[in-house]
Amino acid sequence: PSKQRLLVVANRLPVSAVRRSVDSWQLEISVGGLVSALLGVKEFDARWIGWAGVNVSDDIGQRTLTKSLAEKRCIPVFLDEEIVQQYYNGYCNNILWPLFHYLGLPQEDRLATTRSFQSQFDAYKKANQLFADVVNNIYQEGDVVWCHDYHLMFLPQCLKRYNSNMKVGWFLHTPFPSSEIHRTLPSRSELLRSVLAADLVGFHTYDYARHFVSACTRILGFEGTPEGVENQGKLTRVAAFPIGIDSERFIRALELPQVQDHIKELKERFAGRKVMLGVDRLDMIKGIPQKILAFEKFLEENPNWRDKVVLLQIAVPTRTDVSEYQKLTSQVHEIVGRINGRFGTLTAVPIHHLLYRDYEFGFITSCNSERLLNDRSLDFHALCALYAVTDVALVTSLRDGMNLVSYEFVACQASKKGVLILSAAQSLGAGAILVNPWNITEVAASIGYALNMPADEREKRHQLNFMHVTSHTSQEWAATFVSELNDTIVEAQLRT
Ligand code: UDP
Ligand code: G6P
Repeated sequence: PSKQRLLVVANRLPVSAVRRSVDSWQLEISVGGLVSALLGVKEFDARWIGWAGVNVSDDIGQRTLTKSLAEKRCIPVFLDEEIVQQYYNGYCNNILWPLFHYLGLPQEDRLATTRSFQSQFDAYKKANQLFADVVNNIYQEGDVVWCHDYHLMFLPQCLKRYNSNMKVGWFLHTPFPSSEIHRTLPSRSELLRSVLAADLVGFHTYDYARHFVSACTRILGFEGTPEGVENQGKLTRVAAFPIGIDSERFIRALELPQVQDHIKELKERFAGRKVMLGVDRLDMIKGIPQKILAFEKFLEENPNWRDKVVLLQIAVPTRTDVSEYQKLTSQVHEIVGRINGRFGTLTAVPIHHLLYRDYEFGFITSCNSERLLNDRSLDFHALCALYAVTDVALVTSLRDGMNLVSYEFVACQASKKGVLILSAAQSLGAGAILVNPWNITEVAASIGYALNMPADEREKRHQLNFMHVTSHTSQEWAATFVSELNDTIVEAQLRT
């Protein structure tokens, strides 16, 4: 049978575009868990609809970009600068993102945000409508339309207005907060109602699904059932679908000669020192300052470790037009500078804080720069090498939807069997050392515990993690969601 057509709709396309001239574009792989997971999904005839991360206001630009994206099976949604400011920087990343991660709004911005709220929400709806228009244009009967994440909560309703027979699923890649938090949003009801227009609504964990259902019962007064949410005979299925990674892709990559070379290079570079690794987008939810302070405390309390351990912190700049993110960037720089000043020696510093670009150009010495620019998969290979040489990974998000970096690390550790220190225990709870990321003393103690862990305990913990990561793949995640969506629609037809 031919593969089912799947329209994947997400704000962020798997490739982001950089303009090279009037009519030429460079496409780069986008960074983030959503893109990583969806790149592993192969058994569908999939097309992607989303924003290419760039403002294109001229005809030639739009035409040529559409053409080069088509080769990657991507269809662009063009958003103008004003919409990006209000919808993406404003409503999505300054309001929904912090709220869904329980961070609250920055105190000094609270009133200003309340004032600008309405125009940002209007832009949000307008942007969602633009996504719906593009979907509607390419939609064919029988397609499954899978909407992703907090950017597109308004989309299910827009789509169903176009065509009530469209099969529509929506999946959230972040936590869904307790209804007590959700109720502080001025647009709380509209967002819930719109999401409920979907046939199937999915979350990473059972907790998030439960939060969503109770928000619908408490705020909208709808009925929550074990199946989902019911209103006047219409059922919206709500369920948990824990995401995973394409673990084979990582395991295979480790065998490539260039990755092996890179591993060797890293081992030589850090010979005699244990390697600790953090890989995060430079985001408030990732707890990067807290993590670095915990590392400082560890060094403070364990002078004998000072020249025997290094922390590599990869930080990918993200959402750099939002002021909270700018503040975080300078804060992290400051802390790293101070600690390196305090514990660094002439020959070595304890923390290598590497921004994405530094990382590419500073570290990879054995490849030619032309390939580096054209083929971002080298980043992937370099990342695999880093994961493989790591002794202790520090994944200490303050809160996370489902952290994929922890999975990727585990997938690359078959030979080293390093230790995972983890704060968000949604699924790797059995093998990792679990910590409270807010408690610097506890994290510092865990670092000591991890560095001194005997080989047999490391092996046991690694096996537990490895089993989980290799048996819960992104492939399976997507297949389960889509088949559940198909089933839900058949059941609904039987009911009427
Ligand atoms: N990542 C990457 N290049 C980097 C750093 C990170 O491609 O330099 C990827 C990483 O491999 C992972 C994703 O970005 O797949 C981050 O996903 P995660 O779920 O950990 O966090 P998110 O960024 O989605 O909040
Ligand atoms: C998280 C979100 C994704 C987003 C990614 C990167 O993983 O769940 O929807 O794509 O962060 O953020 P960005 O704003 O660059 O798309």
